[in-house]
Amino acid sequence: MKQKKQSKVISISNHKGGVGKTTSAINIGAGLNKLGKKVLLVDLDAQANLSQSFGLKEQPKNIYGALRGDYVLEPITVIHDLDIIPSTRNLRTIEAELSTGAGAEFVLKEIIDPLIGQYDYILLDTPPSLGLLTINAFVASKMALIPLQSEYLALQGLESLLDISSQIKRRLNPTFKIGGIFLTRYDQRKMLNRSIFDSISDSFSTPVFKTKIRENISLAEAPTNELDIFRYEPKSNGAEDYLNLSNEILKLI
Ligand SMILES: Nc1ncnc2c1ncn2[C@@H]1O[C@H](COP(=O)(O)OP(=O)(O)OP(=O)(O)O)[C@@H](O)[C@H]1O
Ligand SMILES: [Mg+2]
Repeated sequence: MKQKKQSKVISISNHKGGVGKTTSAINIGAGLNKLGKKVLLVDLDAQANLSQSFGLKEQPKNIYGALRGDYVLEPITVIHDLDIIPSTRNLRTIEAELSTGAGAEFVLKEIIDPLIGQYDYILLDTPPSLGLLTINAFVASKMALIPLQSEYLALQGLESLLDISSQIKRRLNPTFKIGGIFLTRYDQRKMLNRSIFDSISDSFSTPVFKTKIRENISLAEAPTNELDIFRYEPKSNGAEDYLNLSNEILKLI
């Protein structure tokens, strides 16, 4: 009999907007896929940037309907061994809808659990908030990875993210943890960028990944071509950095 996989569910999360969550979910997913892993990407953001980056717009079956219980999750294969659960703009009302039912924090876990065993990794791209959807993501995950933009005020707000994580661990998901922080849009030439790396390493007990994702235009261009970085520009700094980060994640979990 074919051995069942033990999916590792990981949230990519930071409530600060535009720090590289979606770019990272896509390219860590594609990186793990390149390293031979079977990956599912789940788009949990009503902006649906992840879905659109693979050319999936307003699909009839999506995360919104599945969270409402209208149908079961149906992953869409975009590349061999890389599947997606797309989002839709309708998702913006889901938090209000879910909160009227019991156990609202567990709905995502309930619908993802039947897929556990089919993938090596399930990556959740979360919205820029610490609302009910992000809490659902943390409840369903083994760990969260935090992209942090290498800029002034990047650390502001990190405290509240760490607070929510410890509440989740205490009250809802005892095995949950922050797996690590990684820097995005990094520019070695900027003194400020280098000092941010030192200050997160010094001020938080959370691990910091060695790999820094450098500022790289190809990473911003790839989604408009509906490609991940390895298919769009395999020789770019972006491809090199996301492959290194994927290798670090592989060793971690
Ligand atoms: N390393 C990078 N180099 C250059 N551009 C980048 C890099 N990482 C992300 N970007 C660009 O920055 C913008 C924000 O990135 P992204 O959408 O991944 O952030 P996000 O955290 O998911 O945003 P949101 O909070 O809105 O969901 C996008 O235009 C993306 O293409
Ligand atoms: Mg995003």
